[in-house]
Amino acid sequence: MQKATMVLDQAFKIGEVDSRIYGSFIEHLGRAVYGGIYEPDHPQANEMGFRKDVIELVKELKVPIIRYPGGNFVSGYNWEDGVGPKENRPRRLELAWRTIETNEFGTNEFMDWIQAVDSEAMMAVNLGTRGIDEARNLLEYCNHPGGTYWSDLRKKHGYEKPHNIKVWCLGNEMDGPWQIGHKTAEEYGRLACETAKVMKWTDPSIELVACGSSSSAMATFAEWEATVLEHTYDHVDYISLHTYYGNRDNDIANYLARSMDMDAFIKSVISICDYIKAKRRSKKTINLSFDEWNVWYHSNESDRKLEPWTIAPPQLEDVYNFEDALLVGSLLISLLKHADRVKMACLAQLVNVIAPIMTENGGPAWRQTIFYPYMHASVFGRGTVLHSIVDSPKYDSKDFTDIPYLDTTAVFNEEADELTIFAVNRDLENDLLLECDLRSFADYQMIEHIALTNDDMKATNTVKQQLNVIPHNQDVVPLDQGRLTTSLSKLSWNVLRFKKQN
Ligand code: AHR
Repeated sequence: MQKATMVLDQAFKIGEVDSRIYGSFIEHLGRAVYGGIYEPDHPQANEMGFRKDVIELVKELKVPIIRYPGGNFVSGYNWEDGVGPKENRPRRLELAWRTIETNEFGTNEFMDWIQAVDSEAMMAVNLGTRGIDEARNLLEYCNHPGGTYWSDLRKKHGYEKPHNIKVWCLGNEMDGPWQIGHKTAEEYGRLACETAKVMKWTDPSIELVACGSSSSAMATFAEWEATVLEHTYDHVDYISLHTYYGNRDNDIANYLARSMDMDAFIKSVISICDYIKAKRRSKKTINLSFDEWNVWYHSNESDRKLEPWTIAPPQLEDVYNFEDALLVGSLLISLLKHADRVKMACLAQLVNVIAPIMTENGGPAWRQTIFYPYMHASVFGRGTVLHSIVDSPKYDSKDFTDIPYLDTTAVFNEEADELTIFAVNRDLENDLLLECDLRSFADYQMIEHIALTNDDMKATNTVKQQLNVIPHNQDVVPLDQGRLTTSLSKLSWNVLRFKKQN
C-alpha cells in the first residue's frame, strides 16, 4: 500500500473560515424556483407555497447564504414585476433561458423562504438591461426602514420591516457574449463603479461583489479583472469567480485533478487583486467571492431538445454520479485552502438545476451524490483552516502533472474543541495509508470516520434509488501519542473527526 504523511499543528493557521463559503444559489431557471423550492399545490407545501421537504433538505446542508435571482436571468429581470399583488404581476418572455417567467415568485417570497431555511440572501442587481436607478430603487425597497417611496411600497406589500440584505452582486457574468447586455471591461467597470457608489450612499452597511470573468478560460480573463478593479477598487469589497467542470472524455484520473485548476484560478485572481492594490497604493484588500462553482456537463445534450417559451421546464438537471461527488469534495478542499482570501462561495445551484437536491413535481425530494461532501464540509468545516504539510505519492494526467493522490485539508474548531480532516484519495487502484502527526492535538481522540466510497464510479441517486450512494462510518482508530495511522479507501471522500478528551 502506498503511504502519505500529513503534519498538522494548532499554531499553523491559514485563516478563519468565513461560513459563507458554504453558500449556494437559486436562479429563476428551469425548476429551481417553480417545482423546486416553490410549488403551492404540492402535498408538502406550506401556506406560502414552499415545499417543506425541500426546506428540510436545505436546512440539513446549513447553507449560510443563497445568491438570487440569477445568474444570466438577472440581466433581463425587472424586479418590480415580482413584487405586489400576484394577480397584477406580468408574464414575460425570459430571454436568458428562453422560457416564460410568471413572476409569481419574487423578492419578498424569496426573503420569506430565506427565513424558512435559516439563511441569508446574496442579491444580484440587473446591470444588463438596467442600471444605477433600478439598483438603488431595489436596495431602498429592501433595506430602507420607511418614509420614502420604495420603502413605503415594501410596507404596502406587507413587509413592515426591511429585509436588510447585506451582500449585493453588481450584475452577473458581464464579460460573456451570451449575457443580456454584455459589456466590455471598460463599460462594465464604469457602470459597476457608479452603481456601487450610489448603492453605498443608499445603505453604507452593504457589501458589494464586482463581476470577475465567467471562467478562467475566457480570452479576456485577467485583463477583465484588472480593468474592472481599476474602476471599482475603492467601492467594492469582492470580485467574483465562476467555474464549472465536467468529465466529457471519461478520463477519471484527469477529472479528479480538476481542483488543481480551481487552485490556480484562485491564486491568479488573488494576484490580480493585489497587483491593483499595489498600483493604487491602497490599504484595502479585495477578497474573493467564488459565487458559482460545480460540476456541470451531464445535462447539456438534453437541454438542447427543449421547447422554448414554456413555464419552468426541466433545465440543467444534471444527475450526479459518484465520481462527481469526489470532485466536489476536492473543490471544497480547494476553497478551504484559500480561506484567507475566499470569503464567499456558492455551489451552483441548490435545487433541481445543477443541484445537490432534486425533486419531482408533485413527488419526492432527494439527495444527489454531491449533497454529501457539501453537507459534511458545511457542517464540520467551521473554524480555522490549518496549514497541512502533506507528503503524498503523485501521478500525472492528460492536463495536469504532479497530482497528489491525497487531496486534503483540516479545520480546527477551537470553540467546540474539534478537529476535522477532509481527504480525497484520488488513486483509482489502491487504498492509501495515511500517517498523521497530530502531536499538538495530543489530548484529542478520533470520534468518527465518515467515508463515501463506491465500486461504480457512475453510480447515481435517482427518484427510484434515492440511497444508492450514501456515506458510511468506518472504524475509528485510536491516536497513539498524537500520531494516527489509518487507511483511505481507493477513490474515496473522507471526513476524519477528532475531539478533545477531558
Ligand atoms: O448556473 C447556471 C448559469 O451559469 C448561470 O446563470 C450563469 O451565471 C452561468 O453561466
